Amino acid sequence: MNIHRITSFSDCETALRNRDLKQALYDAGKVVMDGVLLTLHGEEHGRRRAVEVRVFRRNFFHYYEKEIFPKTLAQTMAPYRAARGGDLIRLGYRLTVNLTSDFAGIDRPLRTAEETERLIAITKKLSEGATMVHSTRDHADINREVTAVMADFERDFFQPSLARRRALIAACAAGSISDAELPRDVLTTLLMGNDTLELEEYQILREIAFYMQAGAHSTANAIVHTLHEILHWAGDDAARWTRLDDAIFVQHCVHESLRLHPASPEAWRNTTCPMHVAGAGELESGERVELDLFRANRDLAVFGADADRFDPDRTIPGNVLRSGLAFGIGLHTCLGRELDGGIVAKPGSDPGEAQLGIVALVVCELLRCGARTIESDPPVPDAGTKRPNWASFPVRFTKDGH
Ligand code: HEM
Repeated sequence: MNIHRITSFSDCETALRNRDLKQALYDAGKVVMDGVLLTLHGEEHGRRRAVEVRVFRRNFFHYYEKEIFPKTLAQTMAPYRAARGGDLIRLGYRLTVNLTSDFAGIDRPLRTAEETERLIAITKKLSEGATMVHSTRDHADINREVTAVMADFERDFFQPSLARRRALIAACAAGSISDAELPRDVLTTLLMGNDTLELEEYQILREIAFYMQAGAHSTANAIVHTLHEILHWAGDDAARWTRLDDAIFVQHCVHESLRLHPASPEAWRNTTCPMHVAGAGELESGERVELDLFRANRDLAVFGADADRFDPDRTIPGNVLRSGLAFGIGLHTCLGRELDGGIVAKPGSDPGEAQLGIVALVVCELLRCGARTIESDPPVPDAGTKRPNWASFPVRFTKDGH
C-alpha cells in the first residue's frame, strides 16, 4: 500500500474534512473498534452519530459540569488530600472512568473503591486494544487479553446496565415514569434509537466498550500534560502563579497544552476513490494518508515562530481553535470536545458562568491543592506505547486546597 504523510496544519485540516477519506487508524485495534462510531464511514456513520449526538448537548454538559462532576471530583480527591498527594495518572483514571461510565451508560451500583479499580483495569485494557497500532507489545497477546476483559465487562457491567435501562424504557412506554426520568447516556439513547439503527446486542456492547475508553485515556492524559506544562511555565514566578488563580486563564492553559500534546499524535485515513489530497498529490483508491497532528499543531505558519513553546497567551488566527486539531475536525470531530474543553471564554469572563470543561476543573483543583512534582520520585514515561504518555506522575500537595 502507498503511504503518504502530511504535516502542515492546513493540509491535515483539509484531509480531516474530506468525506472521501476513510478512518484507518484502528484497523489493528478491531477487537474493540470494529463497527464503532469512530471507524464507521459515510451514511452508516452519519446515522449512528445523529442518534448518539443527542447525549452530547451543551445544556447537558453545563448541568454535568456544575451539578454532577463536582461531587465526583470531591469524592475522588478526598483520599489524595488525606495522603497529601499521589499518582496523577491513577487519580486521572479514577475521575475519568466515572465520567465515561456516566456518558456511556454503565452503572456502578456498589460505588466502592474496588468497583472503580475493576472498571479502570477494564478501561485501560480496552484502550490498549483500541490503540494497538501504537503499541510496542505483541499484538496477539493484547488481542487475547482484550477478549477476556470484554467478556468480564459484558457480564459484570454491561448486562446489568442494559437490563436496568430496558426496564426503565418499558416503564416510560407504559407511562409509569416520564422521559425526564430516563438516564441520559449513550446506551439508553441507542436502545431508544434502535428501531432505525437495528444494532445487534454485540454491536451495542462494542459501542459502549469504545465509549468507556474513548474519553478516559485522553482526558486523564490531558490533565497530566496541562499540569506538567503549567509547573514549567510558572516556575518561581509569583506573578504567573497569581494568574493561575483565574479559572478562565487555566482553561486557556488546557487548550494550549492540548495543542502541544494531542491525545492521538496522528490520524490515518485511506482514499475511497481516486482523488487529489493536498500535501500528498494525486492518489488512487486504497492509498493511505497519515496526518501528523503533532506537527500540524506546531505549524509555524499558523501558531507563530515559537509554536513549540507553551504560551497560554498565544494569539491564534480567528478560524483556528486554541487546541488546534487535538479534538479532530470534520465528520469524526470529538463528541466530548465541549465536555472536556468547555467553551473557550474570553479573558475576564466570570468563571462561575463559563463552561470551563472537565479538564480545567480538575487542573484548578490540583492547583488549589498546590500539586507539585517530587524531585526524588519523578514522572515515568509509558514504555508500552509509542504515544508520549506517562506510566506514573507522582505529585505532592503543598496546600490544603481550600
Ligand atoms: C481531552 C480529551 C479528548 C481528546 C483530546 C479527544 C480527541 C478526539 C479526537 C482527535 C477524535 C477524532 C479522531 C479522528 O478523527 O480519527 C475524537 C473522536 C471522538 N471522541 Fe474524543 N477526545 C477527548 C475526550 C472525549 C470524551 C470525554 C468523550 C466522550 C465522553 C469523547 C468521545 C469521542 C467520540 C464518540 C469520538 C468519535 C466521533 C466520531 O467518530 O464521529 N472524547 N476524540
